Amino acid sequence: MQKPTRVITKDSPEDLALVGADLLRYAAAEKASHRGNPAVAISGGSTPRPMHRILAEEPWVSAIPWHRIHIFWVDERCVPISDPVSNYGTARRDFLDRVPLPESHIHPMPIDHRPREGAKIYQETLVKFFQPFGNQPPVFDLIFLGLGKDGHTASLFPGHKALEEKERLVVAVKGGKPEVNRITMTLPVLNQASHVVFVVTGRHKAEIVTK
Ligand code: 6PG
Repeated sequence: MQKPTRVITKDSPEDLALVGADLLRYAAAEKASHRGNPAVAISGGSTPRPMHRILAEEPWVSAIPWHRIHIFWVDERCVPISDPVSNYGTARRDFLDRVPLPESHIHPMPIDHRPREGAKIYQETLVKFFQPFGNQPPVFDLIFLGLGKDGHTASLFPGHKALEEKERLVVAVKGGKPEVNRITMTLPVLNQASHVVFVVTGRHKAEIVTK
């Protein structure tokens, strides 16, 4: 079933960051009100960074039920955590180290294995976390995605066979900028989420957004 789509436009990345933070607050509160633990997946790249940074400030630190939230990654570049292009390392520095999120609620993609092995391990992490759903794909409460000028999202690049994946929840790919080995969630996971938010800024992405 086609899910309803809503487009929210803002004049600046800072204003957009506020919208993103509020959507996180909303989705987390919605799940927490049913005594659930909100499962949220975040993306890398530069676009989400203003939102990540403000999440570590008030009013967001107090407004969001951090102690309940579990954070996962939509994709990861297979580089050391200290590398400025590490999605996990960047998010830790931008906000995760500064919000009251239990350490056991942070689920980075493994980068210390061969990418295919890392993808398998992360798939097991997802299956274990979402166990009550049995064979069904995991249902994230909220997934934040970015968008490349070429139309890629997560590390799913146009024309790549990973886009056709129907079974595996997480796969290894190589590509993008930087062109490194990557681990990415697949469409069966992304399409199943309760809420999916594309956060996109910049004139150079206007054409692909319209498309
Ligand atoms: C990653 C991504 C990727 C990203 C887009 C947009 O490379 O880790 O998750 O899909 O969201 O490439 O990147 P920018 O925000 O840097 O433009």
